[in-house]
Amino acid sequence: MTKFVDSEYVKNMREVTRESYFRYWDERNGGNVSYRLLTEEVEGFEDVHEVKRTLELGFDASALAGFYYLVTGTGRYFRNVYSRPELDLGLVKISEDGQSYDIVWGFEDGGKPTSEFPSHLMSHIERLKVNPNQRVVFHCHPTNLIALSFTQELSERHLSRLLWKMQAESIVVFPEGIGVIPYMTPGTNEIGEATAAKMSEFQTVLWPHHGVFASGSTLDETYGLIEVLEKAAMIYSQVGAQGGEIKQAITDKELQKIAEFFGMTPHEGFLDLD
Ligand code: 13P
Ligand code: ZN
Repeated sequence: MTKFVDSEYVKNMREVTRESYFRYWDERNGGNVSYRLLTEEVEGFEDVHEVKRTLELGFDASALAGFYYLVTGTGRYFRNVYSRPELDLGLVKISEDGQSYDIVWGFEDGGKPTSEFPSHLMSHIERLKVNPNQRVVFHCHPTNLIALSFTQELSERHLSRLLWKMQAESIVVFPEGIGVIPYMTPGTNEIGEATAAKMSEFQTVLWPHHGVFASGSTLDETYGLIEVLEKAAMIYSQVGAQGGEIKQAITDKELQKIAEFFGMTPHEGFLDLD
């Protein structure tokens, strides 16, 4: 039997956190990831069968009873995950009553899951209702997306349209647009509830003046979604740097055509088609 640290799951987490760090999306301890693993993916490893510690959740996660999550630690730096995964990552199993979780691997120096774990788990619960293959929630601090939350009206329609128009294929990747919550205190159950409420409609939720929460079936897909959002926001920043005057742009009808061509349905009411 092999050790969990050598698994493809830990490898994927090490790689994606390193990549995100190098994008400047995870300064210091900024950002956190949770990645659902199936029982059959986990239980073949020799070192995941002993409960090391049990911690309370503080809300009802019974919809995730028995599920395993590989998760980044609170206060840990994405910069370090690659070289010390056993300290900065942990594998947890949600209890049968959904009130607590067992740490079964990792967090070897006493660490525990991200302070945003409530927001992650509440988002997982909502996304699983929309997509049974839902596995990943990724939070990070992408520079240009955060900047938009200072200069733009915090409206889902406005921000979705702006991002769709900055790059032709954006609408194919997030046809539902981007969700937005008001500014709220990070790490609280309240921000988790507000984020999860948006997750029933959107795969990504902007946290104004803070960052983004994205969800998806795989690490690649979820990280790719953030790449596309941030690229669009970056182009908007560059348009500003080039003077800000827009002389020509993709029209709403053209956006609709791209979406149709790729078999996607844009968020109802976000495009002006008359
Ligand atoms: P953690 O270190 O608890 O994961 O918090 C980082 C963060 O980005 C909070 O929003
Ligand atoms: Zn954050």
